[in-house]
Amino acid sequence: MKKVAIKFLNEDKLPLVIEPVDKNITFTEFLEFIEDNREFFKQNLLKYGGILLRNFPIENDKAFASVIKSLQMGNFINYIGGDSPRKKVIEGVYTSTEAPAWFKIPLHNELSYVKNYPGHIFFYCETPPIEKGQTIIGDARKIYRDIHDEVKVKFMTKGLKYVSCYPYKRDFMTHFNKSHKSWTNVFETEDKQEVEKKCLANDISFKWHKNDWLEISQVLPSVISHPATQEKVWFNQAHHFDFNPKFLGWSGYLGTKLLYFRKNTLLHSVTYADQTKIARKDLYHILDVLDKNTIYFPWQKNDMLILDNVLAMHGRETFTGKRRILTAMTGE
Ligand SMILES: [Fe+2]
Repeated sequence: MKKVAIKFLNEDKLPLVIEPVDKNITFTEFLEFIEDNREFFKQNLLKYGGILLRNFPIENDKAFASVIKSLQMGNFINYIGGDSPRKKVIEGVYTSTEAPAWFKIPLHNELSYVKNYPGHIFFYCETPPIEKGQTIIGDARKIYRDIHDEVKVKFMTKGLKYVSCYPYKRDFMTHFNKSHKSWTNVFETEDKQEVEKKCLANDISFKWHKNDWLEISQVLPSVISHPATQEKVWFNQAHHFDFNPKFLGWSGYLGTKLLYFRKNTLLHSVTYADQTKIARKDLYHILDVLDKNTIYFPWQKNDMLILDNVLAMHGRETFTGKRRILTAMTGE
């Protein structure tokens, strides 16, 4: 077996970093190393939540996909039902969010607002950002512990209802706001019956509005236990579904209000499952806890990050210039 060096970049011990001792390791040797050490990857992901593979010869999107397949952490999941704007690169591999560079995406677990969320999420750095642009990460176990008990109790006893509205692809809203997805994007089809089939398969309620707008909603818990370790984690996106100035910034908030003021064109909204309002101060407290627990590490070209999507959260710092980070998800 090829020798590797193991280290951490910070006191939080997230992520665990693995590097080859021999920098001339071939891609075939690297895949053999992964195949021989699947249990090591599994156990360390359960302990630390994330592993960064650095200085291995992962040179393009196809190599990234091959490494994921070798890890055997489930099958690729398509981004069905996901609201973040992305482009499919090859089967199972997407660009990470195409949301505007000025917008900081706070920590979250991927697709925690759908029933069939991915168990693992992977990132690959094709073009490192010149300035900032980190894929930020955080430990969902610590975040759960840091949320005030009073907020935790409300969220845990009531559960959440997420509502999203999407236009048909040629709608004028998508023209004005490139990050406002259409339902043809969200469900990767133009066939309404196909959309309905996918909704039913994923326990998503749906309603068609005038002008071909689609409204979908889901009722889900806000805290879950990890299926293997049983540890409790904060696992919801209430802080992404409420439009407020702390999340969007004042200009983003006012612009969004102006464009999407009607109920059936509001991109996102969230309430408790009984449809009662979530106090804004509680959502602000959650954003503060996420901020406090945000870990930054700089990308290097060809880095690959593996996250347990339940134990670890991710997000994106603002950036300037070019940045191309690819992502993929797996589940059972
Ligand atoms: Fe994400």
